[in-house]
Amino acid sequence: MKLTINEHVEMLQVPGIRQFSNKLIHFPDAVNLTIGQPDFSTPEAVKLAGIKAIENNQTGYSHNAGLLELRQAVSSFFNWKYGFSYEAENEIVITNGASEGIDSVFRTILSPGDEVILPTPLYLGYEPIINICGAKVVYLDTTDTEFRPSPERLESLITSKTKAILFNFPSNPTGVTIEKERMNELVAVLEKYQLFIISDEIYSENTFSGEHVSFAQYEVLRNRLFLIHGLSKSHSMTGWRIGYVLGPANFMETVLKVHLYNSVCASVPSQHAGIVALNECRHTPTEMNVEYMKRRDFVYDRLRGMGLDVVKPNGAFYIFPSIKKYGIDSFSFATKLLEEGGVAAVPGSAFTEYGEGYLRISYAYAMPVLEKGMDRLEKFLQRL
Ligand SMILES: Cc1ncc(COP(=O)(O)O)c(C=O)c1O
Repeated sequence: MKLTINEHVEMLQVPGIRQFSNKLIHFPDAVNLTIGQPDFSTPEAVKLAGIKAIENNQTGYSHNAGLLELRQAVSSFFNWKYGFSYEAENEIVITNGASEGIDSVFRTILSPGDEVILPTPLYLGYEPIINICGAKVVYLDTTDTEFRPSPERLESLITSKTKAILFNFPSNPTGVTIEKERMNELVAVLEKYQLFIISDEIYSENTFSGEHVSFAQYEVLRNRLFLIHGLSKSHSMTGWRIGYVLGPANFMETVLKVHLYNSVCASVPSQHAGIVALNECRHTPTEMNVEYMKRRDFVYDRLRGMGLDVVKPNGAFYIFPSIKKYGIDSFSFATKLLEEGGVAAVPGSAFTEYGEGYLRISYAYAMPVLEKGMDRLEKFLQRL
């Protein structure tokens, strides 16, 4: 008998972004603008807390939901920043990065045949997990609404099979945020239907002007909302692997089971570092944002100067210009830009087919790198 593997796993593709970074190794002199992590160091106090935890032998397992002190720090941080409250005891689970939180939530709520609405273009970490659960993705196109989901379109996609909708604002790959008015309109639709809402707000602390509005601020959604978050972006801690899920106690009990059968608990020295990040380094993201904004303005102005159509981002560290006018698909465009122009940027098609015709540029790089990258891109476009 032939050995087979899970049929949904068999269908998984290598992410477009990975296919592209495989090419990159052959171009060591290229200006790399593909990376999706902050270029700052983890704050010193956070690093020391991690080192101290190891020295003090705090290296065993923790409670499956994470150290209570860290859960309290998460709860207190959100309460301080956004005014909503989650119980450390039973409404918060510390995960191995936001990635594992996303995985645990989807595997908790999805059954084969369910539908999940995803505003798109979007981050590539959701769809494969939904597919592994045997559920189906339904895209909500945002390309003609400046990458912000239209409430009417959202409502038109809801069927009896819709189990959940996921939002990710500020967005990877567009950098777009949603302002309060649009949030209110979306919530007015969501209120009418019994759906789970998953909000991946991992970039919330990297919001540049105006306040980030969290779905968790809407009490009316509270009993069916999962908030996904973590320290990777806000505190430049991608390698420490600390994320968290916040949600209603009755569902979090099961999220905790899924999480514990998967990974027991998050890395304990990292959890100790996380306590310091959340309690003592609350202004770290604001400091990073000063730099990100300078870079965002610079890259945005340069792209506009090159005649590219681009929505000005208000968060994260990505910008998503349209390259549609050149009439080449984004993978070929990015390949040509790499080979002939010496700049690496991620083809928009890596973020679903709705990203076709765009390029994702990360500005998580120092100014001289961005200057060189923009100069090269400009020359490349002039020759195109
Ligand atoms: C939108 C989004 N969600 C989640 C993640 C994963 O974050 P973590 O490093 O905490 O697993 C990323 C990473 O790039 C992301 O862009």
